[in-house]
Amino acid sequence: MDIMKPKVAVFISGGGSNLQALIDATKANILSAEIGLVVSNKSKAFGLTRAKNENIKTFIFKSKKYLSPEDAGDKLLEILKENNIEYIALSGYLRLLPKQVIENYPKKIINIHPALLPKYGGKGMYGHFVHEAVIKNKEIESGVTVHLADEIYDNGKILAQVKVPVMTEDTPESLAERVLKQEHRLFPRVLQKLIKGEYNIE
Ligand code: GRF
Repeated sequence: MDIMKPKVAVFISGGGSNLQALIDATKANILSAEIGLVVSNKSKAFGLTRAKNENIKTFIFKSKKYLSPEDAGDKLLEILKENNIEYIALSGYLRLLPKQVIENYPKKIINIHPALLPKYGGKGMYGHFVHEAVIKNKEIESGVTVHLADEIYDNGKILAQVKVPVMTEDTPESLAERVLKQEHRLFPRVLQKLIKGEYNIE
């Protein structure tokens, strides 16, 4: 363990290919951080297997298990603090974070979204729904957005965007693949810049 490297918790709900990109970036020295914890709201998310393969601690967070949303938030915050987490990367996490967590990590939480926000964001706009809507509206470009996360879906200051073209023959799957490739490149680089204090986010 390198004590100079800040610890990051990565939150997932699914496959975790962006989690893998973050892990790979730490090994390639693109990201000077340690993935200290992976949190999932789904016990069967494949991303948990990726974490276990790398000996990364995991925590299944099912907020309904707790007596109240406040209790759930307190527990999650306790786990993050116990693990000395300094940054949070929402990586395909399909829930809002509890208020306590957001308040305790100001400007330290980022989310990745597979479209050019502010278009195609908000509740229900995730995964294939995003790419379907982009194609249906005959957009000529889509892309990736990484932004600071807060208590509203896909809100918060945009830190970086990368555009990709939308082809006339695209399906949601082919577009998702093109976008995902850029996600894997962009996410670790934005996190690195945030850690280095290279964004003007006062
Ligand atoms: C990505 O497209 C990400 O932008 C979105 O959810 C998807 C997660 O994919 N928020 P993965 O689990 O990282 O493979």
